Amino acid sequence: MKRIGMLTSGGDCQALNAAMRGVVKGLSESCNELEVYGFFEGYKGLIYGNYRLLTSEDFSGILTKGGTILGSSRQPFKLMRVPDKNGLDKVEAMKQTYYKLNLDCLVILGGNGTQKSANLLREEGLHVIHLPKTIDNDIYGTDVTFGFQSAINIATDAIDCVHTTAASHNRIFIVEVMGHKVGWLTLYAGVASGADIILLPEIPYDIERVSEAIEKRSRAGKGFTILAVAEGAISKEDAKLSKKEYKEKLKNYKFPSVSYELADMIEKRLDVEVRVVVPGHTQRGGSPCPYDRVLCSRLGAAAAQAIMDEDYGNMIAMVNGNTKRVPLGDVAGKLKTVNPHCQMIQEAKSMGISFGD
Ligand code: F6P
Repeated sequence: MKRIGMLTSGGDCQALNAAMRGVVKGLSESCNELEVYGFFEGYKGLIYGNYRLLTSEDFSGILTKGGTILGSSRQPFKLMRVPDKNGLDKVEAMKQTYYKLNLDCLVILGGNGTQKSANLLREEGLHVIHLPKTIDNDIYGTDVTFGFQSAINIATDAIDCVHTTAASHNRIFIVEVMGHKVGWLTLYAGVASGADIILLPEIPYDIERVSEAIEKRSRAGKGFTILAVAEGAISKEDAKLSKKEYKEKLKNYKFPSVSYELADMIEKRLDVEVRVVVPGHTQRGGSPCPYDRVLCSRLGAAAAQAIMDEDYGNMIAMVNGNTKRVPLGDVAGKLKTVNPHCQMIQEAKSMGISFGD
């Protein structure tokens, strides 16, 4: 008999359901008796005891379904130890729900913040397994996160569509791709769609270099330029500011996002028209791509095996093509960023792609 709890926390993505299905299918094959409790809206459900006993019906037909059947919410890690507005101790409340249901393990699907909270629960003595979700691909200790490939497809499609209209009108287009802290999604979607300039949070840009790259294309007779710009792209000047100073700047910001500021700078410098396209949350929506369906089926099955082995306190990662149990204590709180000197960036540069540096 196994009694497990499940929750999906943080920003959603395309393959959360596929991953939960993988876990439940794997467990159903190995356990005679299985109870799965689904907590609604992430950690909130665990804190406030909002859950339901799920049946195999709940997991049927969800491999291809985006979003999460459990709902999700952001519960910042830094507030986990802060009592709620009624003075409730959230960590104690989560432990009580866990013990009341007599759970063997909690399967927690989420990104970096979610992983830190999962590790906190592990430190508090609960059995947890974490599955690495995020379109940002920034979880340390796994080669890839689920959601990433599906989001690349969407961001790439968006840039592909912009390409044809940019060419018709001889315009400069900025496509803003999700990713405040890391640029994996922008890098992959940018290369996949043939973007001319790719700006990432990890490589502060120089507006001079960006302008030169556009002018170089004009001189070569190319009437249009496509920039793939991460939400967290930052200029060399802004990168020199302290965190506090940068936050202060953003407080009085007149632009909806960094792409609009960049567009403004380019327009003023080059006397050209620039359009900004923001695919935004579409990048997290729709059906998971086949790669993510396979990834989640494998991670789910491996999570089920870890539960059967009673080997808890791990993230189930994908490392060199194999699933791997990675201790949460080794990875929680670490971020996997793009190395500006990595081979992929060098190769992209050798093809003439500008990173604005
Ligand atoms: O972490 C996933 C992510 O989609 C980021 O790429 C993006 O910056 C952020 O979430 C958006 O958050 P929200 O859905 O809260 O607006």
